[in-house]
Amino acid sequence: MGYEEARTLAHGYFRNLELFEDGLMLPASSRAGRPGTREPLPRDLESFHAAISGCTKCPLGYTRTKFVFGVGNPEAPIVFVGEAPGRDEDLQGIPFVGRAGQLLDHMLAEVGLDRRHVYICNVLKCRPPGNRDPEPLEIETCRPYLLTQLSLIAPRILVCLGRHAATALLDLQLPMKELRGRVIPWQGMQVLVTYHPAYYLRNMNQRTLGEQDFRLLRQMYDELS
Ligand code: URA
Repeated sequence: MGYEEARTLAHGYFRNLELFEDGLMLPASSRAGRPGTREPLPRDLESFHAAISGCTKCPLGYTRTKFVFGVGNPEAPIVFVGEAPGRDEDLQGIPFVGRAGQLLDHMLAEVGLDRRHVYICNVLKCRPPGNRDPEPLEIETCRPYLLTQLSLIAPRILVCLGRHAATALLDLQLPMKELRGRVIPWQGMQVLVTYHPAYYLRNMNQRTLGEQDFRLLRQMYDELS
Protein backbone atom coordinates (compact mmCIF):
# COMPACT_ATOMS: atom_id res chain seq x y z
CA MET A 1 0.00 0.00 0.00
CA GLY A 2 1.32 3.46 -0.88
CA TYR A 3 1.66 6.25 1.68
CA GLU A 4 -1.15 8.38 0.20
CA GLU A 5 -3.60 5.47 0.26
CA ALA A 6 -2.59 4.71 3.83
CA ARG A 7 -3.10 8.37 4.77
CA THR A 8 -6.70 8.21 3.55
CA LEU A 9 -7.32 5.03 5.53
CA ALA A 10 -5.84 6.46 8.70
CA HIS A 11 -7.49 9.85 8.33
CA GLY A 12 -10.33 9.08 10.74
CA TYR A 13 -7.89 8.39 13.54
CA PHE A 14 -6.26 11.78 13.23
CA ARG A 15 -9.56 13.50 13.90
CA ASN A 16 -10.07 11.36 17.00
CA LEU A 17 -6.61 11.85 18.41
CA GLU A 18 -6.70 11.64 22.18
CA LEU A 19 -4.02 12.01 24.79
CA PHE A 20 -3.84 9.84 27.82
CA GLU A 21 -4.44 11.96 30.92
CA ASP A 22 -7.19 9.64 32.20
CA GLY A 23 -6.56 6.58 30.10
CA LEU A 24 -5.22 5.68 26.70
CA MET A 25 -7.01 5.36 23.38
CA LEU A 26 -5.75 2.03 22.09
CA PRO A 27 -5.73 1.26 18.37
CA ALA A 28 -8.91 -0.20 16.94
CA SER A 29 -7.10 -3.46 16.19
CA SER A 30 -5.99 -3.86 19.80
CA ARG A 31 -6.92 -7.16 21.41
CA ALA A 32 -7.01 -5.40 24.76
CA GLY A 33 -10.37 -3.73 24.30
CA ARG A 34 -13.21 -2.71 22.03
CA PRO A 35 -12.29 -0.29 19.24
CA GLY A 36 -12.35 3.31 20.33
CA THR A 37 -12.85 2.60 24.03
CA ARG A 38 -10.66 4.24 26.61
CA GLU A 39 -8.50 1.69 28.38
CA PRO A 40 -6.76 2.07 31.73
CA LEU A 41 -3.04 2.64 31.49
CA PRO A 42 -1.13 -0.64 31.07
CA ARG A 43 0.69 -2.17 34.04
CA ASP A 44 3.94 -3.06 32.31
CA LEU A 45 5.87 -2.56 29.10
CA GLU A 46 5.14 -6.05 27.82
CA SER A 47 1.37 -5.72 27.99
CA PHE A 48 1.60 -2.20 26.60
CA HIS A 49 3.65 -3.46 23.66
CA ALA A 50 1.11 -6.20 22.98
CA ALA A 51 -1.74 -3.68 23.13
CA ILE A 52 -0.32 -1.22 20.62
CA SER A 53 1.76 -3.33 18.24
CA GLY A 54 -1.05 -3.47 15.68
CA CYS A 55 -1.46 0.32 15.64
CA THR A 56 -2.78 1.96 12.48
CA LYS A 57 -3.55 5.35 13.99
CA CYS A 58 -1.39 7.02 11.35
CA PRO A 59 -0.49 6.06 7.78
CA LEU A 60 2.87 4.66 8.83
CA GLY A 61 0.98 1.77 10.41
CA TYR A 62 0.13 0.62 6.89
CA THR A 63 3.56 1.02 5.34
CA ARG A 64 5.80 -0.39 8.09
CA THR A 65 7.20 -3.93 8.08
CA LYS A 66 7.51 -4.21 11.87
CA PHE A 67 6.33 -2.07 14.77
CA VAL A 68 9.46 -0.94 16.64
CA PHE A 69 8.46 -0.60 20.28
CA GLY A 70 11.73 -0.38 22.22
CA VAL A 71 14.54 -2.49 23.59
CA GLY A 72 16.60 -2.78 26.74
CA ASN A 73 16.29 -2.89 30.47
CA PRO A 74 12.71 -2.00 31.54
CA GLU A 75 14.11 -0.74 34.85
CA ALA A 76 16.94 1.25 33.32
CA PRO A 77 17.82 4.58 34.92
CA ILE A 78 18.67 5.91 31.45
CA VAL A 79 16.33 6.03 28.45
CA PHE A 80 17.51 7.05 24.98
CA VAL A 81 14.91 8.49 22.62
CA GLY A 82 15.73 8.55 18.92
CA GLU A 83 13.72 9.77 15.97
CA ALA A 84 12.14 6.88 14.09
CA PRO A 85 13.05 3.40 12.86
CA GLY A 86 15.17 3.20 9.72
CA ARG A 87 15.31 0.37 7.20
CA ASP A 88 17.17 -2.13 9.40
CA GLU A 89 14.98 -1.37 12.42
CA ASP A 90 11.81 -1.72 10.32
CA LEU A 91 12.94 -5.16 9.15
CA GLN A 92 14.02 -6.41 12.58
CA GLY A 93 11.52 -4.63 14.86
CA ILE A 94 14.36 -3.44 17.13
CA PRO A 95 15.52 0.18 17.51
CA PHE A 96 19.05 1.25 16.64
CA VAL A 97 20.35 -1.93 15.03
CA GLY A 98 21.75 -0.26 11.88
CA ARG A 99 24.87 1.90 11.47
CA ALA A 100 23.60 4.64 13.81
CA GLY A 101 22.88 1.95 16.41
CA GLN A 102 26.37 0.52 16.10
CA LEU A 103 27.82 3.98 16.69
CA LEU A 104 25.50 4.45 19.68
CA ASP A 105 26.79 1.15 21.14
CA HIS A 106 30.36 2.31 20.55
CA MET A 107 29.76 5.69 22.24
CA LEU A 108 28.18 3.93 25.22
CA ALA A 109 31.11 1.51 25.45
CA GLU A 110 33.56 4.43 25.45
CA VAL A 111 32.09 5.56 28.77
CA GLY A 112 31.77 2.05 30.21
CA LEU A 113 28.04 1.58 29.56
CA ASP A 114 26.12 -0.86 27.38
CA ARG A 115 22.54 -1.74 26.46
CA ARG A 116 21.98 -3.45 29.81
CA HIS A 117 22.20 -0.03 31.50
CA VAL A 118 19.70 1.63 29.18
CA TYR A 119 16.36 1.41 27.43
CA ILE A 120 16.16 2.61 23.82
CA CYS A 121 13.11 3.74 21.89
CA ASN A 122 12.03 6.31 19.33
CA VAL A 123 9.54 9.14 18.99
CA LEU A 124 7.86 7.20 16.15
CA LYS A 125 7.32 3.47 16.37
CA CYS A 126 7.03 2.96 12.61
CA ARG A 127 9.41 3.83 9.79
CA PRO A 128 8.64 6.89 7.66
CA PRO A 129 8.99 5.82 4.01
CA GLY A 130 12.47 6.49 2.65
CA ASN A 131 13.58 7.62 6.13
CA ARG A 132 12.11 11.07 5.61
CA ASP A 133 11.61 13.36 8.64
CA PRO A 134 8.60 12.54 10.82
CA GLU A 135 5.56 14.71 10.07
CA PRO A 136 4.11 16.77 12.96
CA LEU A 137 0.85 14.82 12.91
CA GLU A 138 2.73 11.50 13.11
CA ILE A 139 4.65 12.81 16.13
CA GLU A 140 1.45 13.97 17.83
CA THR A 141 -0.20 10.60 17.16
CA CYS A 142 2.71 8.55 18.50
CA ARG A 143 3.68 10.83 21.42
CA PRO A 144 1.20 9.31 23.91
CA TYR A 145 2.87 5.92 23.36
CA LEU A 146 6.29 7.38 24.15
CA LEU A 147 4.96 9.21 27.22
CA THR A 148 3.33 6.00 28.46
CA GLN A 149 6.57 4.07 27.94
CA LEU A 150 8.42 6.71 29.93
CA SER A 151 5.89 6.65 32.74
CA LEU A 152 6.20 2.83 32.96
CA ILE A 153 10.01 2.88 33.00
CA ALA A 154 10.31 6.04 35.11
CA PRO A 155 13.97 6.67 34.25
CA ARG A 156 16.06 9.23 36.10
CA ILE A 157 17.89 10.36 32.97
CA LEU A 158 16.47 10.85 29.50
CA VAL A 159 18.76 11.33 26.50
CA CYS A 160 17.20 13.00 23.48
CA LEU A 161 19.07 11.92 20.36
CA GLY A 162 18.57 14.80 17.97
CA ARG A 163 16.10 17.57 17.27
CA HIS A 164 12.96 15.49 16.80
CA ALA A 165 13.27 13.78 20.17
CA ALA A 166 14.07 17.07 21.90
CA THR A 167 11.19 19.02 20.38
CA ALA A 168 8.67 16.17 20.70
CA LEU A 169 9.31 15.93 24.43
CA LEU A 170 10.45 19.31 25.62
CA ASP A 171 8.33 21.53 23.42
CA LEU A 172 11.29 23.92 23.10
CA GLN A 173 11.60 25.37 19.63
CA LEU A 174 15.33 26.06 19.91
CA PRO A 175 18.00 25.06 17.40
CA MET A 176 20.07 21.98 18.26
CA LYS A 177 23.17 24.18 18.54
CA GLU A 178 21.56 25.77 21.61
CA LEU A 179 20.08 22.60 23.06
CA ARG A 180 23.05 20.24 22.62
CA GLY A 181 24.99 19.38 25.73
CA ARG A 182 22.36 20.98 27.98
CA VAL A 183 20.68 19.21 30.88
CA ILE A 184 17.07 20.28 31.27
CA PRO A 185 14.85 19.24 34.19
CA TRP A 186 11.56 17.84 32.85
CA GLN A 187 8.84 15.78 34.54
CA GLY A 188 11.14 14.78 37.40
CA MET A 189 13.89 13.61 35.03
CA GLN A 190 17.15 15.15 33.90
CA VAL A 191 17.04 15.46 30.13
CA LEU A 192 20.31 15.56 28.23
CA VAL A 193 20.09 16.66 24.61
CA THR A 194 22.72 15.50 22.15
CA TYR A 195 23.05 15.10 18.41
CA HIS A 196 21.67 11.98 16.77
CA PRO A 197 24.37 9.33 16.06
CA ALA A 198 23.45 9.60 12.35
CA TYR A 199 24.68 13.20 12.52
CA TYR A 200 28.10 11.97 13.68
CA LEU A 201 28.16 9.39 10.88
CA ARG A 202 27.76 12.28 8.43
CA ASN A 203 30.06 14.67 10.35
CA MET A 204 32.89 12.65 11.84
CA ASN A 205 34.78 15.87 12.69
CA GLN A 206 32.03 16.70 15.23
CA ARG A 207 32.45 13.45 17.16
CA THR A 208 34.21 15.19 20.04
CA LEU A 209 30.90 16.91 20.87
CA GLY A 210 29.26 13.51 21.24
CA GLU A 211 32.14 12.25 23.33
CA GLN A 212 31.75 15.26 25.65
CA ASP A 213 28.01 14.60 25.98
CA PHE A 214 28.51 10.93 26.74
CA ARG A 215 31.14 11.74 29.38
CA LEU A 216 28.56 14.07 30.94
CA LEU A 217 26.00 11.27 30.77
CA ARG A 218 28.40 8.95 32.59
CA GLN A 219 28.92 11.60 35.27
CA MET A 220 25.14 12.04 35.66
CA TYR A 221 24.77 8.26 35.94
CA ASP A 222 27.50 8.05 38.59
CA GLU A 223 25.81 10.81 40.60
CA LEU A 224 22.47 8.98 40.81
CA SER A 225 21.91 7.99 44.40
N1 URA B 1 17.57 6.23 13.93
C1 URA B 1 16.65 6.42 14.89
O1 URA B 1 16.32 7.55 15.23
N2 URA B 1 16.11 5.37 15.45
C2 URA B 1 16.44 4.13 15.13
O2 URA B 1 15.90 3.20 15.71
C3 URA B 1 17.42 3.95 14.14
C4 URA B 1 17.97 5.00 13.55
